[in-house]
Formats: sequence, structure tokens, C-alpha cells
Amino acid sequence: MGKWLLYGANGYTGKLIAEHAVEKGLTPVLGGRSEEKIRPLAERLGLEYVVVGLNEKLKLTTTVSQFDLVLHAAGPFKHTAHPMIKACIVGKTHYLDITGEIDVFEYAFSHFHEAVSAGIVLMPGVGFDVIPTDCMAKYVSDKLPDADTLDIAFQTNGGMSPGTSKTMVESIEVGNGLARRYGALQALPNRINQKQVQFSHKELSTISIPWGDLVTAFHSTGIPNITTYFAMPPAQIAQMKRFSWMMGLLRLGPLRKMALAYIDRNVDGPDQNTRDSAKSYVWAKATNPAGQSAEAWLETMEAYKLTVFGALLCVERVLDSQLTGVHTPAGAFGADLVMELPGSIRYDECPV
Ligand SMILES: NC(=O)c1ccc[n+]([C@@H]2O[C@H](COP(=O)([O-])OP(=O)(O)OC[C@H]3O[C@@H](n4cnc5c(N)ncnc54)[C@H](OP(=O)(O)O)[C@@H]3O)[C@@H](O)[C@H]2O)c1
Repeated sequence: MGKWLLYGANGYTGKLIAEHAVEKGLTPVLGGRSEEKIRPLAERLGLEYVVVGLNEKLKLTTTVSQFDLVLHAAGPFKHTAHPMIKACIVGKTHYLDITGEIDVFEYAFSHFHEAVSAGIVLMPGVGFDVIPTDCMAKYVSDKLPDADTLDIAFQTNGGMSPGTSKTMVESIEVGNGLARRYGALQALPNRINQKQVQFSHKELSTISIPWGDLVTAFHSTGIPNITTYFAMPPAQIAQMKRFSWMMGLLRLGPLRKMALAYIDRNVDGPDQNTRDSAKSYVWAKATNPAGQSAEAWLETMEAYKLTVFGALLCVERVLDSQLTGVHTPAGAFGADLVMELPGSIRYDECPV
């Protein structure tokens, strides 16, 4: 296996990835911008470490060029992905990340030719966003090759990490009503679009959200109309409808800063017990112009546990491959990639 760098290793998710890598016998070098945070973690896990800031352009390129692959876990990625992707292209180093941010996926896909010329893979989204939904998108699209519409919904119930909460605050301007229509990203007429979805365990209320599949599933399947939905209790949806105007306030600098500081003080992320006991559910449906459809249901691990297992699986698969260019997880490794993760069960007929 090649030499790889886990950047952002001291964050909530980075640390879980580093710990599980060691359990699997892998030896990433840990990276981050703060020696006082990275060194103790590296010493505890018996791993090497490097300290480099994303704004240190030359040092960053020199550093990443010494590795075969970077797994980037430092987010929000709207602030961190560009310098790392550029460094990886110049350094000829594979780039994987755990983003879920639409703009970051678009940015990565806009570097296809650079990635091919450098002989590297750019693969954003090797976490919960988007491995399971990308695999399910590809699965139903493979069953109905002339599909022109794709609906994907998911439920995950373990809570959110600090970085995910911050990313949501930072991405507020993207809006919940974004979808893909006729091949382009478009704002839907309504900000909050509700849909009842039958999952494999029960029927749930969902609302449309700008999940990474609006970009990745388009690349994995070529389907031009895509909507992605997130399950939420009806009372919370009603509250969102009532107070949706307030979300706009988070665009304002001072309020955004207050929200980010609140997250720093109060959000810890799901604990191990929750990560081990909670589950995630995905439903996907492809429909063709004649109105025929193909559906599938997935049950799999809690979102952060899946991110850890999924990211490490993709690191191993990319290092083992001869791929170059920009890829989605399912585009590169097929719809069954998610089935390699312990506990994944996929249904062609809804079991309830
Ligand atoms: N795809 C998925 O399903 C999935 C799952 C989990 C997480 N995520 C995403 O992954 C990201 C991290 O989440 P988390 O909860 O682990 O976050 P976290 O606990 O807040 O940790 C963030 C990490 O990023 C580093 N970082 C932030 N800004 C940086 C910058 N400008 N330069 C260098 N390092 C920087 C932090 O370093 P310092 O400690 O030095 O500040 C820290 O190591 C978020 O964007 C989150 O949305 C995605």
C-alpha cells in the first residue's frame, strides 16, 4: 500500500478515521495546521505527523508531493478544498475528501483534465455523503438505463459533528430548495419541499436538501433530473416552514460568527455508543419518460461510522487502482461498494 496523509486528523471525524486506520493496521501520516493538536494524537497512535497550513502554498505542495494520496478531513471544505486540490494536482498526489458541499464537488469536477494530466484521482465525497446514496443512485439507474428522473432520500439518526454543523451554517445560502433539472442545478420554486417516503423500516416525512448527489449522482448515472431528500420529524418541518426567513439571517457576518462560536462550545458529535447503535436508511427511485420505475432500499451504519469505514475503503481501493481523473465512489467502484461496509443490507422490494 502507498504512503498516505490524513489531513485534518485532529478534528472529530479525522480522529475517528486515524483511530480506525490503526485498528486496521494502516499507517497514515497525520497532518494538520496545529502542532499542539496533531503531535499528541500522533504520539498516542504511534504514527508520524506533519504540520502545514493550507495557506503555506509552497510547503503544502512540497509536503503532499511526498505522498501517494491525501485523505482530506479538514472542513468546512469551502475554505479548505481549493488549496489542497491545487497542491495535489501539482504534487501528483491522489486527493480524496469527506465533503458534502455542492460547490466543492463542482470545483473538483471542473479539474478533470488537470487530474488526468497529473495521473491522479480526485474523489470528493468518500463519507456518508455520498457513498451510500451514490451507490443507490447507480444501483437503480443500472436497473433502468433510460431513466431521466432520480429521487433519493435518506434518514440518519445519530446527531451531528461540530464540522457538519459549521458546514451547514456556512452553506446556508445554498438553500434547501436546490435540485437538478434538465442537467443544471436550479432553485425549486419553494424553499421547503416536503415528500412522504417509504423507507425499509417505516414511512417518514422528508424535505428536499442540497445533498452532494445533485452533483455526484449526475456524474455516476447521467440522469438529468435529481432531487435529494432528508427525513425530518413533521413538527420540525413545520417549524422550519414558519421560521425559514430566519435562516437568511445566518448569512449576516456577526450572526454567522455567533452561530459558529456556539457550535465550538456546545457540539461534540455522536459518542461511540450512538455511532455503534444508530442506523442509516436510504431509498432511491429512478423513473423513465414512459413512467416505469426502479426502486431500492438500503439499511447501513450510522453516518459518522460509515464515513470512517467508507473513507478508508476508498483510500485502499484508489491506492490499488490505475484510475485517473475525477470520480464518484460508485462511478469508480460500482453500486456494490456500499455492500462492502459491515451491516449494509439492500432490498429490491420494500420489506415493510
Ligand atoms: N461526508 C460526510 O458524510 C461527512 C462526515 C463527517 C464530516 N464531514 C465533513 O468533514 C468536515 C470536518 O468535520 P468534523 O466534524 O470532523 O470537524 P471538526 O471536528 O470541526 O474538525 C475540523 C478539522 O478541520 C481543520 N480545519 C478547519 N479549517 C481549517 C483550515 N482553514 N486549515 C486547516 N485545517 C482546518 C481543524 O483544524 P484545527 O483543529 O486546527 O482548527 C480540524 O482538524 C466538515 O466539513 C464536515 O461537514 C462530512
